[in-house]
Amino acid sequence: MRIAVYPGSFDPITYGHLDIIERAADLFDKVIVAVSVNSGKKPLFTIEERVEMITAECHHLKNVEVRHFRGLLVDFAVQNNARSIVRGLRAVSDFEYEFQMALTNRKLNAQLETIFLVSQPNYSFLSSSIVKEIASLGGDVSGFVSQNVANRLHNKYHR
Ligand code: PNS
Repeated sequence: MRIAVYPGSFDPITYGHLDIIERAADLFDKVIVAVSVNSGKKPLFTIEERVEMITAECHHLKNVEVRHFRGLLVDFAVQNNARSIVRGLRAVSDFEYEFQMALTNRKLNAQLETIFLVSQPNYSFLSSSIVKEIASLGGDVSGFVSQNVANRLHNKYHR
């Protein structure tokens, strides 16, 4: 069984993330969306909220599981019998960080392969940070995230 992990902060999940999850689900027998507990950033949503939101978005994808992890991604991947790490690449600006992470993970565990999926052009500008900024300023985020996520953003910033 070909198992991949798709790790990230997902604070919150956007249509850009969902696009990568759907395409990875097509390529692998099983995809584990791995939500990082300690990515170094201070998240807006709790780990439980982030897992809940992703689970709701992925309801139609029967070979996708959503879990959280702490510690090293490579350890989580091994514990879950995954051989591949999937990451989305939006633009050249992503590349340096992604390249560094992929090489670091390979150094930590040479059995794991990082696979990059190039974002669709209509999502290549999208990031959770930009979505949070728009939502915090009262803007319309309906083109970037689901209604459920948009409602949760509204509740965080304007209730
Ligand atoms: O969505 P993000 O914030 O770009 O995701 C970054 C993430 C969570 C994939 C990365 O920070 C990560 O893998 N964290 C786990 C800790 C780890 O394994 N670090 C060493 C690899 S660089």
